[in-house]
Amino acid sequence: MSVTIKSQHEIELMREAGKILAIVHDEMGKIIRPGISTMDINRKGEEVIRSYDCIPSFLNYRGYPASICVSVNDEVVHGIPSKKRILQEGDIVSLDAGVIYQGYQSDAARTHAVGEISQEDQRLIDVTRQSFFEGIRYAKSGNHLYEISKAIQNFVEANGYSVVRDLVGHGIGKEMHEEPQIPNFKPIGRGMKLQAGMTLAIEPMVNAGTFEVWVLEDDWTVVTRDSKKSAHYENTVLITEGEPELLSYREDFL
Ligand code: MF3
Ligand code: CO
Repeated sequence: MSVTIKSQHEIELMREAGKILAIVHDEMGKIIRPGISTMDINRKGEEVIRSYDCIPSFLNYRGYPASICVSVNDEVVHGIPSKKRILQEGDIVSLDAGVIYQGYQSDAARTHAVGEISQEDQRLIDVTRQSFFEGIRYAKSGNHLYEISKAIQNFVEANGYSVVRDLVGHGIGKEMHEEPQIPNFKPIGRGMKLQAGMTLAIEPMVNAGTFEVWVLEDDWTVVTRDSKKSAHYENTVLITEGEPELLSYREDFL
C-alpha cells in the first residue's frame, strides 16, 4: 500500500483518536510507582481505551497478547505485560499504546521514571523526548522525510546516545502501519517529499549505549545488546502546509 493523504473527515477522526490516546497515556502515567506490576499498567490502559469506545490496536496484532507494550530499563519496545513483573524504585518504563476510534488509528509512546531515578536516566528520557521535537521541526509540506530522521539522529548522537536502527516509525491511518517507514537515522538519499494530509507516527527509540538490539525468547521483547537502558517517545503527527499538528499530544500532559 502506498502513502495515504487524509481527507478533512479522516483528519477529524484521527484528531479524536489522538486526543483519547493522550488521555490514556496521562491516566497510565498517574499510576506509575514502585510496587505495581506491568500488567496493572496494561489493565489501566485498556480500561481507559474502552471507556472512550475505542479498540486497543495492539491486542492480537500479529499475535501480540496485550493492549499496551510495557518495556522496562534495557527493554526497548514490545515488552509483554506480566503480573509477575513488579516495578522497582529507580526503573524507567516505556509505555506504547495504540487506539482505533471509528476505524482510525493513533499511536504514541512515553517513558516514565519509577520513583526516584538517577540523573543520567532522567537525561536519557529527556533527550529521547527532545529528539522527537527536534525531528518534527522538519515535518512540514515540501520538506523531505529524511530531514526528520537526520535531525533526530544528530540530536541523539550529540548527546552521547544512539538511535535504534532495527525499528522505525511509520505512516498511520486506517492501518497502524502504513507507508512510509520513518527511520530515526539518516539513510542514503532524501526520502519522499512530505505533503499536507499525511499522518505519521514518529518514534525515536534511544539507547544509552550501543544501538544494537536483540529479541528475547518470547519473540516480542526487544532489548539492548549491552543491557544498558533505552527510552522511547512517539506521537502521531499530521503534516500541514505550516507547523505539524501533534494529534496524540496535549501540552498539559507529557
Ligand atoms: N506501537 C508499535 C509501533 O509503533 C506497535 C506495537 S507492536 C504490537 O509499531 F504488536 F504491540 F502491536
Ligand atoms: Co508506532
